[in-house]
Order: sequence, then C-alpha cells, then structure tokens
Amino acid sequence: MVSPSADVNSSDQILNKISAIRTAHPGNLMARHFNAEYFNALDQSRRDRLLEIVRTGIENPDSQMGAYARHAGDYEDFNPLFEPMIRDQHNIPHDREIVQTHDWSAATSTCNLESINAALTEVSMRVRVGRNLADFPLPGAMTKQHRLDFEALMIPAFTVLQNDPLFGGQYLSLTPGSAHLIEEDAYQHRVAAHQMFKNMDNDPYLNSAGISSDWPHGRGMYISGQQDFMIWVGEEDQLRIMTIKPGGDLAALFSRLHDGVRKFADLLPPFAQSPCYGYVTSCPTNLGTAMRASLHLPLPNLTQGGKDLGPVQEAASGLGLAVRGVGGEHSDAGEGGVVDISPRARLGITESGVMQCLYDGAAALWTLENAG
Ligand code: ARG
Repeated sequence: MVSPSADVNSSDQILNKISAIRTAHPGNLMARHFNAEYFNALDQSRRDRLLEIVRTGIENPDSQMGAYARHAGDYEDFNPLFEPMIRDQHNIPHDREIVQTHDWSAATSTCNLESINAALTEVSMRVRVGRNLADFPLPGAMTKQHRLDFEALMIPAFTVLQNDPLFGGQYLSLTPGSAHLIEEDAYQHRVAAHQMFKNMDNDPYLNSAGISSDWPHGRGMYISGQQDFMIWVGEEDQLRIMTIKPGGDLAALFSRLHDGVRKFADLLPPFAQSPCYGYVTSCPTNLGTAMRASLHLPLPNLTQGGKDLGPVQEAASGLGLAVRGVGGEHSDAGEGGVVDISPRARLGITESGVMQCLYDGAAALWTLENAG
C-alpha cells in the first residue's frame, strides 16, 4: 500500500479534499467532524496514522461513517476525531457521559413477536456481536501472518466447541491449503443462505481500510450442527459471533447467543475493550455492545410493496431503528415489502436494551402498517 504522505502531495490537499466531501456528502460523519486545527497540531507520525484511519472515507465519499480504527488504542489516541463521530452515530448528546455497561438479563425474559401479532411466528431473526482480541491489531492493520496466526489460534477453541452437545459443529476455512478448506461451490451456497460472509474484495469501504487485504487467507466460519450459531473469522472484526433463526421468540434467540458467546470467550485470550467505548470494533458504528439485532418485517402497505422505503425509514428513525432491504448492507429494495429493521445504537445501551428497542420498534411499525 502506498503511504498517505507519498500518495497525496500535501496535508493541505487532503484537508481540501475532506472539506469538499463535507459539502458534497453531508452524511459522511468523518468529513462532518474532521477538525483541521486538530490535525495540523499532530506530529507527522500521528498524522500518518490518522490518515490511514480516514482513508476509507476519503476514497469513498459516500461513506456514512468514513473511518475504521486499525488498533484498539486508536479510539483513545485519536479521541478528538472519534468522539464527535461516535456521539453523532449513537445519538449521545454532548452533555451525557459515554458509558458502556453490559446486561443480558432480557435473554431470560419473555419477549416474543407473537405477542404483537399471532402471524409473526416465522420471522427471520438475527443477532450478532463483534469481538476482537486485545493481542492482535484490528483487521485493517493485520498482516497476512497475523491473519494466519489468528485463524490457527481459533482452531483449538473450535475443536472444544465441536464436542459441545449444544454448539457442536464444524469449522470451514477459506484459507488456501487449509485442512478445513471449504470448496468454492459450498462456499457460494453458504453465502446465498446468508450464513457466510461475501467476498470482501468486492467491498470498496473495506478495501480502502486494508480490512479485506490478503483475502481469503485467515478467513472462515464455524457453524453449529443446528445451523443456527455461527462464528465468522477474519471479516470486518476478527470475530463475529451470531445466531440466526426463523421464529418469533426474540428472548430465546438472545439467550442462545449469550450462551454461545460465554462458552467461546472462555476458550480465548481477552477481548479488546475500551474504558468508555465497551467492546472495541473496527467500525465506530459497532462499539459498545458491538451488537446488531435485526428482523425481517413484512410492511407492504408502508413501503408500497417494497418500492419505497423512504416513509418507513423516517418512521423507523424516530424509533431508533435503521431500515434496509433484505439483501444485506446497502440493499434498499424491500422484496414484497419485507424490510430489515435493527436498532441503530449499539453504544450507551445494554444488550437487553438493544433487544427491547427491536421489539418495541417492531410493534410500533406493525401498528402503523395496519392502521390504514
Ligand atoms: N464504512 C462504511 C461507511 O462508512 C460502512 C459503515 C457501517 N457498516 C459497517 N459494516 N461497518 O459507510
């Protein structure tokens, strides 16, 4: 990779570029909060580090966030840039301290979509958390050797899980020559089934950040025999741990994830955590709980059969939810009016709070959908 100082002639040029992005792309949070005085006051080595962090938002002006951390300590080292972006994203006002506490107690409560409507029993539900080990750089700064070493470190932990009656399954590696290698066809199948992550080389945001480098080395997925519990290795975070189920019982989904995360974490060295930002993730959108919980809700009336997500997006945003199509990130068509909803905040909210927000939001949207 070309170093940013050689790539672009002068800091002034970069500052001008960022300022032009701020005007043309007001949604780019990096550009919105980038402070030229702060940048100019940094020494050269810190400037270079900062430019690597924001490179993705400069090379992809349409970014919503526009920055990825490369080391867990980046959030503290460059807090004057990150903090306003993080407050903006997670909706934390300036006068409220950012604190992260963890609470999974809702996983043992009763929380079933069936209580909203008896028809909501086969809803596609997914919840994941991102995790990174304190001992490794974040994926954007990992070398090929780091990626291979990281995967090698996971294999014994997966071997233990394999013998667990509830989480037993298999590890499928994308690393060429791996003893656990998955064939190309089988991989494509898993991608189509939304179990496995897509080829990261096709994501320009990740490319600019170095997160997709050395693809597919050190990448893979553990999947339980029941096909409902997965651990991704080497995607945007070193680990993404998730449960996916069709049904309505949100509490059961959370409970399964909580059990799996605890069991797996016990087999690993410590995760990277920040004093105020909770679990450290590559993307500032995921800090805190690092949890994204989503479900697919049929809203044909509100979306005009899936043709227009605008009105739902507006209603959902007031409920703290983000809406997208069911084809994954950056997909916006809601096929047949089915949309993916998920609480936007992951930081300054507990795991139970995320689950409650999803349930309450689904109930409110369902009422709106059926009001007319
Ligand atoms: N880096 C992209 C952007 O700034 C994605 C941000 C959120 N998504 C994510 N997968 N982290 O728009």
